[in-house]
Amino acid sequence: MSERPYIVGNWKMHGTRAMLSEARAIDRAAERLMKVEVALAPPFTLIHATRKEASLIGVGAQDCHAAEGGAHTGDISAAMIKDSGAGFVIVGHSERRADHGETDADVRAKAESALSVGLNVIVCVGETEAQRDAGEAEAVVARQLEGSLPQADGAVAKVTVAYEPVWAIGTGRTPTVEDIGAMHRAIRAKLVSLYGEDGASVRILYGGSVKPDNAGVLLAADEVGGALVGGASLTAESFLGIVAAAH
Ligand code: G3P
Repeated sequence: MSERPYIVGNWKMHGTRAMLSEARAIDRAAERLMKVEVALAPPFTLIHATRKEASLIGVGAQDCHAAEGGAHTGDISAAMIKDSGAGFVIVGHSERRADHGETDADVRAKAESALSVGLNVIVCVGETEAQRDAGEAEAVVARQLEGSLPQADGAVAKVTVAYEPVWAIGTGRTPTVEDIGAMHRAIRAKLVSLYGEDGASVRILYGGSVKPDNAGVLLAADEVGGALVGGASLTAESFLGIVAAAH
């Protein structure tokens, strides 16, 4: 596993050009925080400008279409994302799965399309509260990994997994450190069974209500290689608080 923690901000559907100053401030600080790999996933409309403003951090997209191109009004292909200056794309976020009915097979197709143009991918998985209460969390996540992870040759080197329990997203609630560790160990075991020994080096991020004041504890959980951050990534101050906790 890479030594450096990976802290990724997912701006979701937030941000106009006025927010580029936050990206700039994060990028300036990233120069002083070389022990942490930092990236932002702004909306499509800001990818190019963020890439121009911020030269040290990674820049990515929050989704892509699986097709190379064609009659898909309103969609964006992986090649377009790459052309706009991005280096990675998030696929399978629970908000996409819920809002757009994306299945594991859709997520895999998107991931493979992204890999085919040279982008890295962050594949999101995570259980709902009802699934956790029913004791099904690990089985649900295992199923999502089996169905969503790309299978193309060389995929393993370009994949990051983000475990985001749906009930922890934007709620201020988080699993215990023990529960995060247990899930991340289960994800690691699944990665090794799917990818062989290379699965041992895939980074696994935790996401869901990560804030500056809980990041240190959450990031110390077993097999946690970084964080995927929503709300707290929207200002440089709070995002850099998380980056500092990962340092
Ligand atoms: O992708 C990050 C995300 O879903 C977590 O959101 O706002 O709980 O940090 P938030």
